[in-house]
Amino acid sequence: MTVSSASKHYATRSGTVHALDRVSLQVREGEFLCILGPSGCGKSTLLWSMAGLHSLSNGEIRLGSDKIEKPHPEIAMIFQEANLLPWRNLENNIALPFELKRTRPDKARIAKLLQRVGLAGFEHKFPRELSGGMQQRASIVRSLAVNPSVLLMDEPFGALDAFTRDEMNLLIQEIWMETGKTIIFITHSIAEALFLADRIVVMSARPGRIQEIVDVDFPRPRPVSIQSTPEFIARVNDIKAMIDHRKA
Ligand SMILES: Nc1ncnc2c1ncn2[C@@H]1O[C@H](COP(=O)(O)OP(=O)(O)O)[C@@H](O)[C@H]1O
Ligand SMILES: [Mg+2]
Repeated sequence: MTVSSASKHYATRSGTVHALDRVSLQVREGEFLCILGPSGCGKSTLLWSMAGLHSLSNGEIRLGSDKIEKPHPEIAMIFQEANLLPWRNLENNIALPFELKRTRPDKARIAKLLQRVGLAGFEHKFPRELSGGMQQRASIVRSLAVNPSVLLMDEPFGALDAFTRDEMNLLIQEIWMETGKTIIFITHSIAEALFLADRIVVMSARPGRIQEIVDVDFPRPRPVSIQSTPEFIARVNDIKAMIDHRKA
């Protein structure tokens, strides 16, 4: 996926908000890319544009030769809220993207994915009967069921408690290692970005620009305990300094 000089201005009653400023980025196939930045720096604006959910003011985004201007079948999105329909059980929530495309749900693939995330046997439960972590697992199954090549995740674990968040980070690391999908993952947690990413795109405050791209080469699979090693903590501090420095 290629982002070329992406800019976004929002027109509001009180004037124009300059959310993104000439962001260019080459996402490598199969990489785990984290986008890190302070609240309001345009992370969601960038990701939503990559999903084809809203348009840029300038610049363009391509997947291969396809210009992304509307949702693309190879690109799936996972939000902070699981966004399951409360009146549908899990099975029917997961079937929704297939219904929208007027295709038959891939039952074998869905069963395998449910098993993989520990939700086998919960097909007939309703969202209200599931914990937040389980709902987010279900939304991961829903996006992977259609077998996209790119998975966009917008602070997907930000609303979960710390323990569940660690579990979900391990799960997404495993799924990424097993499937080889390209994952673009937004977070404002430096530790989460360092735990998950091959590369971290550090964005500056509004208007959002790319400040720096950081390579992360801790070997995988990374255990949760890596976060308390001196090497990891040193990297957290490096990135913190990068961000603080800019604000000063
Ligand atoms: N639909 C919108 N209309 C007007 N301003 C918006 C809209 N969406 C986002 N913004 C503004 O654009 C900036 C970037 O927002 P966003 O992309 O959501 O940032 P982030 O995800 O990094 O927190 C913010 O100042 C936000 O208030
Ligand atoms: Mg956001």
